[in-house]
Amino acid sequence: MKHHLRKTTLIYGAALLFSGCLSEKKDNLMIGTKSETISEKITQLLSKMTIEEKVGQMNQYNGFWDVTGPAPKGGNAKTKYEHLKKGWVGSMLNVRGTENVREVQRIAVQETRLGIPLIIGFDVIHGYKTLSPIPLAEAASWDLKAIENSARVAATEASAAGINWTFAPMVDISRDARWGRVMEGAGEDPYLGSKVAQARVKGFQGDDLSKPNTIAACAKHFAAYGFSEAGKEYNTVDIGTSTLHNMVLPPFKAAVNADVKTLMNSFNELNGVPVTGSSYLQRDILKGKWNFNGFVVSDWASINELISWGRAKDKKEAAEIAATAGSDMDMEGYVYVEELAKLVKDGVVKEEILDDAVRRILRVKFELGLFDDPFKYCDPANEKENIGNQKHHEAVLDVAKKSIVLLKNEDNLLPLKKEGQKIALIGPLANDKNSPLGSWRLASDDNTAVSVYEGMQKYDKNSLTFEKGIDLVVGDVAFTQPVKINTSLNVSEINKAIQTAKNADVVVMVLGEHGFQSGEARSRTTLDLPGLQQELLEKVYAVNKNIVLVLNNGRPLAIEWAAEHIPTIVEAWQLGSQSGNAIAQVLYGDYNPSGKLPMTFPRNVGQVPIYYNYKNTGRPNQEPHVFWSHYIDSENTPLFPFGHGLSYTTFEYNDFKINGSNFSKNDSIKVSVKVTNTGTYEGKEVVQLYIRDLVASVTRPVRELKGFELINLAPGTSKVVEFTLTKDELGFYNNNGDFIVETGDFEIFIGGSSATTLKETFSIK
Ligand code: NOJ
Repeated sequence: MKHHLRKTTLIYGAALLFSGCLSEKKDNLMIGTKSETISEKITQLLSKMTIEEKVGQMNQYNGFWDVTGPAPKGGNAKTKYEHLKKGWVGSMLNVRGTENVREVQRIAVQETRLGIPLIIGFDVIHGYKTLSPIPLAEAASWDLKAIENSARVAATEASAAGINWTFAPMVDISRDARWGRVMEGAGEDPYLGSKVAQARVKGFQGDDLSKPNTIAACAKHFAAYGFSEAGKEYNTVDIGTSTLHNMVLPPFKAAVNADVKTLMNSFNELNGVPVTGSSYLQRDILKGKWNFNGFVVSDWASINELISWGRAKDKKEAAEIAATAGSDMDMEGYVYVEELAKLVKDGVVKEEILDDAVRRILRVKFELGLFDDPFKYCDPANEKENIGNQKHHEAVLDVAKKSIVLLKNEDNLLPLKKEGQKIALIGPLANDKNSPLGSWRLASDDNTAVSVYEGMQKYDKNSLTFEKGIDLVVGDVAFTQPVKINTSLNVSEINKAIQTAKNADVVVMVLGEHGFQSGEARSRTTLDLPGLQQELLEKVYAVNKNIVLVLNNGRPLAIEWAAEHIPTIVEAWQLGSQSGNAIAQVLYGDYNPSGKLPMTFPRNVGQVPIYYNYKNTGRPNQEPHVFWSHYIDSENTPLFPFGHGLSYTTFEYNDFKINGSNFSKNDSIKVSVKVTNTGTYEGKEVVQLYIRDLVASVTRPVRELKGFELINLAPGTSKVVEFTLTKDELGFYNNNGDFIVETGDFEIFIGGSSATTLKETFSIK
């Protein structure tokens, strides 16, 4: 991506010159001896620190190139450098590249009194330079190994560029496709979300954080950001304890159990308390109940935003509230650095609060091995070798094809024939090399994705004709700017597309959202195909009904017309660097699609929030009158349910068995089912298990995912898939936040989507 901060870069240059004249190297990195534990080393170091230096560890500044929040107000690059040299900065974000990181790190370790290294953070959301699919897409693979591997690739590249901390994974559960950030998460379900969270943490952090190619992960945004009212960014969240404990918190807890080193809090308030200032979330639950010993970073200036929320009257009060509540590090908020030392000296904030925060931050730095070698991530040879290499492209291609979901394939239009078929490729996204990169890709280069056109040309150049028909956007696009959608029809362009479609055997149309229509600050009020795309689709349909619609989008879309009329629909999200190759492999049948939706697709935006694990209500049934829970102008059912996804083959489920019908609370319940590939292609199936707790002290959803397994079957072969249910799967959080298992009757469902009807029952006595 282009950098827009020429002015601050200049200031930075001047600051570097200035810093170059300063003191000689200090030899104070050797803290204690090798045999001392990290805790002992931290204690020693802490005893040497002034209050200002402690506050410094809790202060994080944005760098001078990329911005991922409101740009800092003019002139503070110089201040930042001065603070850096004083030891008043513990971390920087958006500094990348070995040369740049080496320079800021050099100042931290050689020019400050104590020489404490910086931890360098960056939003490595779905890759660094080589991009994987957006996280929502990856979750659609339900392939935890592939997801872990994708995070491993991202960590390898990012660490080679000087970064040792990623602000990922985002583990926010969301039921609202209007919210732009659903692209960054794993969808609507806490069980799938927890598994994906753990796979990502493992991928980033590896098995040993001190290795030079592993980086600290950050589970964000703690908590409930995904429940922003009306899907509007940075908004109020008002949810009850049941939703908080059963839906929102489980993926965070799973990340903590997977030893995630950091968490980020959030811009939203929860039930009237901006979460950055929530002791309940950060002290009582996270650091208390869950025993988390890493640190919490604020979101970008979210401590400062306590003032706009009306929770703090000024920066001083904001600092007091956030530090006391357990926000350990202030991201680009200037609140701690300006206020906290004085608050401690005045006795308003206890020094132990600082000590606790600093201990947590130092621990992660020690675990990363930064005290042993602060420049371990700054090797230019490693940078050159590891970023964008062939192996990484193969890995992201692998996860990209696994992320594709076949929503519909009515007349078996897919797979396409590799020869003898005249194919028209149409649509504004069909030859786009930028949009498939998705949002959150600051370190990648624009226009570097393989387009669908390029991918398909590898199969059959001769019978493939491309016409874009319309443009989706007007002008340049950028991460920090709104996308302008084109609404003016170019008649000759559209006519060329229609003519091409008329002459084809099959039309492949690539439509959807631009990559920058989702992500942070990209909420929408509609979920339809933006701009002129619906019109283009209908015009092409009028001349040729054999359409394969390939969707590129960062959120569920409401495509009711398409679902009714278009025979084949492929959900291809934004798949990253290898997008077009992955899509072409699926279209031509070299990869049999295996993805399943991690989020419900609504019929229309009015159904949102719509999700599979809803409550039954007191009036669930259709009666011969109007008094039941429904709409008068739309069905209740979604367009495509959670867990849905087809294959070029078919699967049959038989022999559904449970090892008994009455169990006690501590029993392990064994469930099995035989799955057979009854079609003609080898294929993968995600076998899903859902339960329903029929009567409980707090009502339970009609279905809850409690297990899944990804299997591969050759045609005509079968596999018996086994699941074990224990109290972890059977219990739930009550309204005090306690996990309980209750006696009673349960239903259990197994199948290839959340809409499966294959059912058994058992009881807990
Ligand atoms: C704000 C976003 O909410 C957060 O997810 C991100 O990590 C920070 N900016 C840093 O870029």
